[in-house]
Amino acid sequence: MTCALVVPAAGRGERLGAGVPKALVPVAGEPLLVHALRRALASGVVDVVVVVAPAGEQQHVRTLLSPLGAADLRVVAGGAERQDSVRCGLAALPEGVDVVLVHDAARCLTPPSVFRSVVAAVRGGAVAVVPVLPVSDTVKRVRAGRVVATVDRRELVAVQTPQGFSCAPLRAAHRAADGAAPATDDAGMLEALGHEVLTVAGDDTAFKVTRPVDLVLAEALLSGGRA
Ligand code: CTP
Ligand code: MG
Repeated sequence: MTCALVVPAAGRGERLGAGVPKALVPVAGEPLLVHALRRALASGVVDVVVVVAPAGEQQHVRTLLSPLGAADLRVVAGGAERQDSVRCGLAALPEGVDVVLVHDAARCLTPPSVFRSVVAAVRGGAVAVVPVLPVSDTVKRVRAGRVVATVDRRELVAVQTPQGFSCAPLRAAHRAADGAAPATDDAGMLEALGHEVLTVAGDDTAFKVTRPVDLVLAEALLSGGRA
């Protein structure tokens, strides 16, 4: 039973606008990617790590992450879209992996408990598992600047990472994927093939650092000892 973690960390971070790839942006003195991997390893459920780094940054990333002491750390270059980067990560997995977690470097404060509950659900027989939170805003459908519907938010959830998968179906979904309309998450690719996707409870601190205000929140949580 081997669990691999694939960490897409090759995005440019355009919405954050820090001028460096987002995974390398420091918060409380350390890059987002370092915070993310530290929490993943603390879960105790990860055997192999594949970090998908911005092209040209592999050596730098390896140097940043080696103090964390992952038993098997592989660093590969990413692609143009997140989906391409995950595919690059999957290609670097060793033989014998049966569970794969895919976790955004940008969700740098996700606690170890979420990794454990996702892996437990996959080990319990689920093909695909996503951590979710209820949606707190009212959500409306808009066309050409006008509201056409208010969506019943009791049916909606926001989806986080790590997402967990049985390895073979995840690989098959990436092989079958449509490069023209890239998916924003991996579970969506399995859904498209008709697989059931199970949910587990997400965590407020597993938010994705996307815009500058998210960095302020991450900084505050870390300095206040809340993450
Ligand atoms: N990612 C990646 N390869 C890409 C695009 C994204 O590995 N070509 C990773 C990011 O590094 C991040 C995660 O996927 O950890 C989620 O993506 P997102 O939050 O959109 O990050 P960026 O693409 O870097 O940000 P932006 O869309 O604002 O440029
Ligand atoms: Mg992006």
